[in-house]
Amino acid sequence: MDIFRDKILEGKKVLISGGGTGLGREIGIGIGRLGAKVAIVGRREDVLKETIDDMHDLGIDAIYSRCDIRDAEQVKNSVNYFLEQFGEINTLVNNAAGNFISKTESLSLNAFNSIIGIVLLGTINLTMDLGKRWIEKKQRGTVINISTIYGTTGSAYVVPSAVGKSGVLALTKSLAAEWGKYGIRHIAIAPGIVPTEGAMSRLAPTKEISDSLLNRVPLGTFGTPQELVNLAIFLISDACTYINGDIIKYDGGESLWLAGQFNFLDMLTDEEWRSIRELKK
Ligand code: HXC
Repeated sequence: MDIFRDKILEGKKVLISGGGTGLGREIGIGIGRLGAKVAIVGRREDVLKETIDDMHDLGIDAIYSRCDIRDAEQVKNSVNYFLEQFGEINTLVNNAAGNFISKTESLSLNAFNSIIGIVLLGTINLTMDLGKRWIEKKQRGTVINISTIYGTTGSAYVVPSAVGKSGVLALTKSLAAEWGKYGIRHIAIAPGIVPTEGAMSRLAPTKEISDSLLNRVPLGTFGTPQELVNLAIFLISDACTYINGDIIKYDGGESLWLAGQFNFLDMLTDEEWRSIRELKK
């Protein structure tokens, strides 16, 4: 479903972390088709190259730089390269993530380091690098951070990710307040389950887990990458530039279902409801 007019993102020069695969790749293609120039970073050159080739086949002006975003020096070098090529970067999508389910007591400190490094430190490195340049050049900018619904609540069995993603939300809200005066907006998207190979293989490796996740979504389906891309397009565009510091959920109602005390009564059959009504008489 194409709901956006052609070239609506012309003039946007967008850096996407983790842009070679999954949601990052989808966002890059989605915004590129609407006229944005796309710069992607990631750790694996093969997938970056493949995605860039696909983008070029679609007529998208796209470039890549291999970069481990945990390393501020590599981030600086990649941004320098993108600036040489595109003249400027005016939008940042902090999408790269690392995650897997595990009992927390089974995790090594290196596992914490690895995930918090990608999710939180990587986001900080990119935001600080571009943010300082934007402020110095008196240039406006937009930062879209991809978090999760458990970034607000925390969650068992994905603790390093929860710590990192909640830090990303704190960064979003804090810098929205501090850097708004420079014309730099920060917005977080908090998806529920949006299946991609990378996420599902690590978070829902069995059908039982996948079905249990689905059972909590009031709308009865998972999200789709394409709809999440539509949301990102809207936020990156100039359609609603007064949004700053918000966390926008895309979860089919899952987080509210998990929070409501009596929502679990979904499990009752009509027969059971009739019996309960009789009990009350
Ligand atoms: C326990 C594990 C583990 C597991 C890795 N480790 N997998 N521990 N259970 N399943 C440990 C390793 O043993 C190692 O510790 C440490 O974590 C780092 O692992 P490496 O493989 O050396 O690290 P690295 O190559 O940097 O890989 C990072 C990664 C990997 C996060 C572990 O999975 C990755 O690159 N993922 C990127 C893509 C991804 O995760 N996508 C899903 C995002 S979904 P030791 O001590 O042995 O050295 C997402 C959405 C959330 O975030 C919303 C969902 C609803």
